[in-house]
Amino acid sequence: MNEFQLDGKVALISGSARGLGAATAEALHAGGAKVVIADVLDGEGAQMADRIGANALFVHLDVTREADWEAAIAAAVERFGGIDVVVNNAGIETTSLLENCTLEEFDRTLKINVSGVFLGVKHAIRAMKPGGASGRGGSIVNISSGAGLKGSLGLGAYCSSKGAVRLLSKAAAVECGRLGYGIRVNSIHPGLIKTEMGVKTLNDYVRLGLMPDEATAEQAFLGAHLIGFGRPQDIANGVRYLASDAARWITGIELSIDGGYFAA
Ligand SMILES: NC(=O)c1ccc[n+]([C@@H]2O[C@H](COP(=O)([O-])OP(=O)(O)OC[C@H]3O[C@@H](n4cnc5c(N)ncnc54)[C@H](O)[C@@H]3O)[C@@H](O)[C@H]2O)c1
Repeated sequence: MNEFQLDGKVALISGSARGLGAATAEALHAGGAKVVIADVLDGEGAQMADRIGANALFVHLDVTREADWEAAIAAAVERFGGIDVVVNNAGIETTSLLENCTLEEFDRTLKINVSGVFLGVKHAIRAMKPGGASGRGGSIVNISSGAGLKGSLGLGAYCSSKGAVRLLSKAAAVECGRLGYGIRVNSIHPGLIKTEMGVKTLNDYVRLGLMPDEATAEQAFLGAHLIGFGRPQDIANGVRYLASDAARWITGIELSIDGGYFAA
């Protein structure tokens, strides 16, 4: 048996209407999983599920709403018979110098990026643990960031949120491991990928006057990644690995997929 395959597994990916989440849904589906596309973007999310086909389901999910999480996980279990993988990928980026960042911007960033991941972890554990609605263990993958490992100019709120995701993941890994739940929890730390969010970051550096123009911003970010920019699939492949039984002895790690950004 190929332990890298995901046949028989059911995966829910938050924020998978586009960007890294969409690439992850495609990669997990290509690996054999049934996938639940979960997002606030109903039109794009439903299209994404249609593109994948019969083994995909779209559910509306605002990660900050606990009732949405309960309904999304229940829908996965009802449609596909269980839940084995939850990828907490949905997130936003706030670009602002800390001295100018409003409390509302800071709180909103933490609400989506941290409270949203907390709720995903909580309801994944409840469903996956022995006696839960699925009850067969599983893998939780939380998408943090390179900005969750070191400070970044103009990204104070975002760094705060992604740093919290890093340790929330480790705390969840400890809890699930010590309590014998059969659930692994890991975080992934992507470098800059030119999704809508990634392009916005480059533009925001210019808008904030931190870079003179977009070409300079792009060169600066490119220079920070030792082997060039990555693709959404590069992150998705890492999620696929951590979701699979090939990673059965891996929990509580932080996997940097960043073209060498963190090493430099
Ligand atoms: N792109 C990068 O360079 C990069 C780097 C490091 C980490 N990340 C992280 O990867 C994840 C995906 O980023 P991306 O680049 O694909 O961004 P993106 O903006 O292209 O996509 C984010 C998705 O999350 C969804 N979303 C936002 N708020 C939501 C909410 N409240 N409930 C449910 N869904 C919500 C959006 O609708 C969208 O589909 C994020 O957590 C991001 O912080 C991205």
